[in-house]
Amino acid sequence: MSKKFYITTPIYYPSDKLHIGHTYCTVATDAMARYKRLTGCDVMFLTGTDEHGQKIEDKAKAAGVTPQEFVDKIVEGEGGILDLWKLMNISNDRFIRTTDDYHVEAIQKIFKKMYDNGDIYKGSYKGKYCKPCESFWTESQLVDGKCPDCGRPVEDAEEEAYFFRLSKYADRVQHLLEDTDFLQPRSRVNEMVNNFIKPGLEDLCVSRTSFTWGVPVDFDPGHVVYVWVDALFNYCTAMGFLNDKYDDYGHYWPADYHFVGKEIVRFHSIIWPAMLMSIDEPLPKHVFGHGWLLLDGGKMSKSKGNVVDPYILAEKFGVDALRFFLMRTFPFGSDGNFSNELLIQTINTDLANDLGNLLSRTTAMVGKYFGGTLPKGCKAAVAAQDCDAELIGMASALREQYEKDMDSCAPHTALADVFRVIQRANKYIDETAPWALAKDMEANGARLAHVLYNLLETTRICATLLIPFMPESMEKLFVQIGAGADAQSWESAAAWGVLAEDAAITKGENLFPRIDMEKALAELEAAADAARKAAMPALEIEPFAAENVDFDTFCKSDFRAVKVKACQNVKKSDKLLKFTLDDGSGTDRQILSGIAKWYKPEDLIGKTLVAIINLPPRKMMGQESCGMLISAVHKEKGEEKLHLLMVDDAIPAGAKLC
Ligand code: MSP
Repeated sequence: MSKKFYITTPIYYPSDKLHIGHTYCTVATDAMARYKRLTGCDVMFLTGTDEHGQKIEDKAKAAGVTPQEFVDKIVEGEGGILDLWKLMNISNDRFIRTTDDYHVEAIQKIFKKMYDNGDIYKGSYKGKYCKPCESFWTESQLVDGKCPDCGRPVEDAEEEAYFFRLSKYADRVQHLLEDTDFLQPRSRVNEMVNNFIKPGLEDLCVSRTSFTWGVPVDFDPGHVVYVWVDALFNYCTAMGFLNDKYDDYGHYWPADYHFVGKEIVRFHSIIWPAMLMSIDEPLPKHVFGHGWLLLDGGKMSKSKGNVVDPYILAEKFGVDALRFFLMRTFPFGSDGNFSNELLIQTINTDLANDLGNLLSRTTAMVGKYFGGTLPKGCKAAVAAQDCDAELIGMASALREQYEKDMDSCAPHTALADVFRVIQRANKYIDETAPWALAKDMEANGARLAHVLYNLLETTRICATLLIPFMPESMEKLFVQIGAGADAQSWESAAAWGVLAEDAAITKGENLFPRIDMEKALAELEAAADAARKAAMPALEIEPFAAENVDFDTFCKSDFRAVKVKACQNVKKSDKLLKFTLDDGSGTDRQILSGIAKWYKPEDLIGKTLVAIINLPPRKMMGQESCGMLISAVHKEKGEEKLHLLMVDDAIPAGAKLC
């Protein structure tokens, strides 16, 4: 019976479009899954989406849709996560969404199980509370001691919550990390032990009551399960743990590998094993924490506006070239700097020059000198030279080295090994100079055929080991060198002389055309620009003033910082708010402003605003207004938007703006 191999990616947050960093992790997992399938393993490859939590709830609200509608669009909609994995040729066997009914029900049972065995208890979550926003914050989330959302003062508060006894498992988890090969690469172990376990593991808050988009705790309405508990157990529920949807838990669990990015290693190597210990289930065999793809040395993020779109790159350079680049360039356990230059350089050097040239030169020569089929007997050595033995030796030994690299999660090293052989084969062409041999076919024909056979055979072995990385291109390559299914198998990758002597060789399409760096970079820049513009709201700003104002006239305007003491709607007016302001003079100033459409009076109390105070007083709806508050205005999709100019509260009332 074949050996089972269960591997997972993290399940992705469907809060935004995924970028090249997310794609990196999934492509790596896919290459590993394909490699294991090639070796004959019974592979289960799981990926999915992590759809609950406050962030999704907030985003849905802002978009004016339900959370379910919001995630459905990002997961299943056009250009969504499922589309991206299809485009990238991801061969997952299963896809889980944490909003799937079977998962939700299983999570409720798991939560209850931990509660019943005494590992979950009710307590209170102490933190800071912003009343107007109804949000809990921790001390470290505050900005200058105030609510990070609205900037208002917060108060001490407690929220009833359930806690998981993480502290109880500290010793067992430490032993797991330090004394086994559970967490890889080894360099991540010290970080976990020194930063999180040694300072003392605190119990983990595992339920919330301040939002509702989550798995409800069925025995205590009002509580929803903490999103990481919900998310981590996907690896079990997707196999059928505590549900009837699937029936493979006994077969595939424990997972052989969880591939995860370095920032979520803590959840996977401390919290995850502790929860499994709590319910007495076997632990996954390994967690591998890979590095990040960086951009200009920093993290890619939507908020920074520096994300790289895998759709654009795949369309421009081909899916396989992109997959290959990701795996070939960046050592899997470390961070790597992404750049378009590096991508193009890698494609040109490895794929167009080394592999592409080997393939096109070899197939062209078989066509030119032998009409597409080598003569019988070409396998046997003819006028053997040292370079024959060296090439055959390297190609025959390649699979063993590759296997070691792949099994230690070093796909970049495995690819480096393959390309060393490809480069050796290109050198072999120069050494044997087939074009010179072809000048006297009668004397050298047999030697020439043998040389070309050696080249085809080397290409075949390398191509077999490249299947996990570039499945589609290798299929096309096998057609060009006439390799049938037997000649593409794992077994045949360690055997020399498998390709039939009379295989039909065809010089087909150029699989990896050379890219014009300058032109491609300019096109990418233009595509990124267009994408940025398309994502931006359609802004309209007021035309700039054509006429200059002289300095002395400008200086006559008296702008001051003012503090809002009171604010109310003006009776019978939909537009006006009446402000009582501290302008630093000791006497209250009243200003009326037509901004009721954009602000609620109670939200403005205490704010520091900017007013011009030396405009002549004027009456509005029978009330006097002494000055004008300054706002920023623009239009968005034809609708007028207004933002009152608010300045730092540290600025005292009456401060002159100049
Ligand atoms: N939902 C959680 C995972 C729960 S698993 C039980 C999550 N989702 S995520 O969408 O934010 O990230 C998914 C994966 O993408 C993580 O492993 C993360 O490290 C990875 N990456 C996100 N940006 C990345 C790079 N720039 N580079 C490499 N991987 C990156 O975390």
